[in-house]
Amino acid sequence: MCGIVGYAGGNDKNIVDDSDRALVVALNGLTRLEYRGYDSAGIALCTRPSNILDDDSASKSYLQVRKKAGRLKNLIDEIETHPLLPAQTSIGHTRWATHGEPTDFNAHPHISNDLRVALIHNGIIENASKLRQALEERGVHFTSVTDTEVVVHLLREELRFVEDDDNLRKKTKYPLTHAMQRVVKQLNGTFTLLAVDASFSDVIVGAKHDSPLVVGLGDGENFFGSDVVAFIEYTSNAIEIQQDQIVTLTSNDVVITDFDGNLSTGKHFTVDWDVSAATKSGYKTFMEKEIREEPKAVADTLLGRFDETTGCIKLDKVPHDVNAFEERLRTINKVIIVACGTAAYAGLVARYAIEHWCRIPVEVELAHEFRYRDPIVNSETLVVSISQSGETMDTLMAQRYASEQGAQTISICNTKGASIVREADGVLYTRAGLEVSVASTKAFVSQITAAYLLGLYLASIRGNKYTDEVLEIVDDLCEVPDKIQELVDQFESISNLAHGLRDIKSVLFLGRNIGYPVALEGALKLKELAYIHAEGFAAGELKHGPIALIDANMPVFVILPSLSRPQLHAKVISNIQEIKARGAQVFTIADAQDIQAHEHATFTIDRPIVPSLLTPLLDIVPLQIFAYALATSKGLDVDKPRNLAKSVTVE
Ligand code: G6P
Repeated sequence: MCGIVGYAGGNDKNIVDDSDRALVVALNGLTRLEYRGYDSAGIALCTRPSNILDDDSASKSYLQVRKKAGRLKNLIDEIETHPLLPAQTSIGHTRWATHGEPTDFNAHPHISNDLRVALIHNGIIENASKLRQALEERGVHFTSVTDTEVVVHLLREELRFVEDDDNLRKKTKYPLTHAMQRVVKQLNGTFTLLAVDASFSDVIVGAKHDSPLVVGLGDGENFFGSDVVAFIEYTSNAIEIQQDQIVTLTSNDVVITDFDGNLSTGKHFTVDWDVSAATKSGYKTFMEKEIREEPKAVADTLLGRFDETTGCIKLDKVPHDVNAFEERLRTINKVIIVACGTAAYAGLVARYAIEHWCRIPVEVELAHEFRYRDPIVNSETLVVSISQSGETMDTLMAQRYASEQGAQTISICNTKGASIVREADGVLYTRAGLEVSVASTKAFVSQITAAYLLGLYLASIRGNKYTDEVLEIVDDLCEVPDKIQELVDQFESISNLAHGLRDIKSVLFLGRNIGYPVALEGALKLKELAYIHAEGFAAGELKHGPIALIDANMPVFVILPSLSRPQLHAKVISNIQEIKARGAQVFTIADAQDIQAHEHATFTIDRPIVPSLLTPLLDIVPLQIFAYALATSKGLDVDKPRNLAKSVTVE
């Protein structure tokens, strides 16, 4: 939610001082980060005096700002109309509006009244109104209604204070760093901040509190990003910025301190996504590319997980004292999965498998509901967070709350070094690769896969399953990627089905047992992408209400249980008959040999045979393709659906 990029260069012989690199890096970064928010975009460039072309330079501000409401394209057009001078540093922002409508004025960067300081922000400043009132009383003029603007004015005031104080001025090369230390202590809420000061055109100061920030280390140039995609094409050498740190970044230096100015460190890591992950690789949309990558996402998530010697599944991170960690997992009496959106549906799927394999109760809770209902969590609870980004604020807060209550925590996450990962006791990475499209697809199947691995890990260390039993299930899982591929190969036929239904107004999705969360996710995809009313229901619930909705204008998708669950299967076949009796068209996803499904449905998508618990990994694929194709046939932007953002870093 809100993308942030920063660039400091221009002091190295390799980086030509009069090039437009600061601009190019910022715009490329914003292009890659646009999935985090696309209500408006803006940049600020800091130019040293020698780059100012006319004789009157001494009286000019060296800060250049351009910002525009709407998609990034509007900002690019604005820059073409009003070009920018070469610069040493740049900061860029793509916004998902929280406070204030998406207008030019509310777009970031925000600027101090004297045009000296520019600032971008991701998060929410909760005490903004109080701060604003005080600033206005002191004569500050505001140009936006955002919470962010207070920060730039406070920063300007503190900069003045630092520069007027001989002692403070001597303490730091960059007064902006010191001013930032003084400002962050006045803020409540969540924030990543990046600021530039026109008087020191070679430096960017960043601050992080409960919002993501990473640094990229280049050769004679350095970068900031809300995540690594901001600079993925320039370097794979990165530093995770920790909670409550301030970073002073120049082209050849990165100084990290805590909020009190004490020197500190970040965690170095290597980015293992390459730049091709951030491109469409010839596909029209990221979403199509990412659906087609699902077999690989599952295969990679499974890769090398089983330790033949110990007979155990391996997690990616465990606490230093592994024995104590595993001993605690043996004594837990409940698992709670916390997540949001698609990740929560992956959790709902995983519940069936974990309860079946481990014989332990599993609750699945939307992360934003979890901590506000006084849940029963203690040292005998395992809380599993599932998150693609690892930055979803609701999920982070739920996991943090669980830790505070003494629970053991394990994160299933797709992003190395993310906040949720850092705070969890144990980590199991999904290896879906970079997911750019806002609607989650390959992350979903890799989350289910990883949650299943976690279930098997628990089952083996708790003695619920012998090694050979675990291995048998791992073998079944290893066959899933090829079977997903068989469904991906039906892209065209499923798309044709969707095109034929492009004028529908409402769709129902029904599933039973492990097919139920798939129905929920299928409906979510259609809502998100095609802006069509869609509902997912447990098939057994049909007769208790939803059947009232059914008529000839309401197509119904039914996810049939596998033939290996004959009782359930028979009940859902009866549901299909009830739907047909009321004139609706039925579309099914069913086992390839399911003759009854073919008999009753207008259109059946054949599911390759897998054990019943693994069916969600296949069943969701045609539903994703259906939503994708229906949305594209309506001419909608599937990669950036309206009002949404990929990484929701506010509560
Ligand atoms: C947003 C996205 C969803 C995603 C959810 C959770 O709502 O639009 O696609 O499922 O956040 O995100 P996470 O990164 O925690 O998996």
